[in-house]
Amino acid sequence: MRTRPFDARSAVPLLVEPDGDPSVDALVAWLRADPAATQALLTKHGAFLFRGFAVDGPDAFERVARAVDADLQNNYLGTSPRDAITPYVFTASELPGHYPIPQHPEMTFLPEPPRRLFFCALRPNDGPGGETPLADFRAVYRDLDPDVRARWEARGVRIVRNYGGPEGQGTRDPRQLKRWDQMFGTTDRAEIERICVTHAFTPTWRDDGRLRLVSTQPAAQPHPVTGEMVWFNHAHVFHGSVAPGEYKRIATRLGAWPWRGWQLAATALAFWQGLGRDPEDGAMHVTFADGGAIPEADFEAVRDAIWKNMVFPRWERGDVTAIDNRSVSHGRMPYSGERLVAVCWA
Ligand SMILES: [Fe+2]
Repeated sequence: MRTRPFDARSAVPLLVEPDGDPSVDALVAWLRADPAATQALLTKHGAFLFRGFAVDGPDAFERVARAVDADLQNNYLGTSPRDAITPYVFTASELPGHYPIPQHPEMTFLPEPPRRLFFCALRPNDGPGGETPLADFRAVYRDLDPDVRARWEARGVRIVRNYGGPEGQGTRDPRQLKRWDQMFGTTDRAEIERICVTHAFTPTWRDDGRLRLVSTQPAAQPHPVTGEMVWFNHAHVFHGSVAPGEYKRIATRLGAWPWRGWQLAATALAFWQGLGRDPEDGAMHVTFADGGAIPEADFEAVRDAIWKNMVFPRWERGDVTAIDNRSVSHGRMPYSGERLVAVCWA
């Protein structure tokens, strides 16, 4: 195999290409030849980008993923709508293409977030955007304004999510991503409460049929292997400033049109949603763990540190990324047209 950093500005990801045999068998054999060395390389670089191999569908993708981590999971308690392709491989997100997905490590709000995350470009989009950018959240921690970092580390983060119910309650909120029965795969409230205990969510059943989930988390955590500090929370994803803040930066990268328009629309929507409403009642909200408001400028500082560290590999058909979810984030640049990217995790 030939290996080199994909982007000279970042250790993330390590590009791995065939030096001869491009078969999935050859890649799997290379990954399994010295499992400890493979894990050490992934920990060091934070992500692999496997390019030029004969990954021709979800089964081949799953074989590559299992060669990195055999313990794939298929329980998902995030906010993105996803469809199953196989029992362990899902569409990365069914959110419309114009919708940006900001950088985040997967499911940071769980007591045991995934160790590994894998993406595969089954059908890359034509035209601009559509990347699944990566960012080294060890570097984000180091680059973040020290005052913001200290404040967030001292006070922690509290996430509030309000899910609509199976009768369609609350689903008129444009930021509503899915219903609680879809999220948990059941309408049995006792079963949902049991799952909430497992994941340290505090559930409240609302009179209007919605479900509120509250969880708290530290702003940063040491990496479980190296002990390096990693920025590790979902606050900037769930805050009302997310869409305007992301579209502003996307417009700078992809060109003004149509992203300045989306930025204005998102800003207007965020303003309208804030009018006379309790922010705790919105689809998503975030505060410090003690309930205090987080300054708006702090979210901009977090986004600045993240965007400074993003790398944007253009998808090529059959590309696979393997990510150390405890140090490296992922997201999605907006795009138009057809695109199919699959995900699995361990
Ligand atoms: Fe994600």
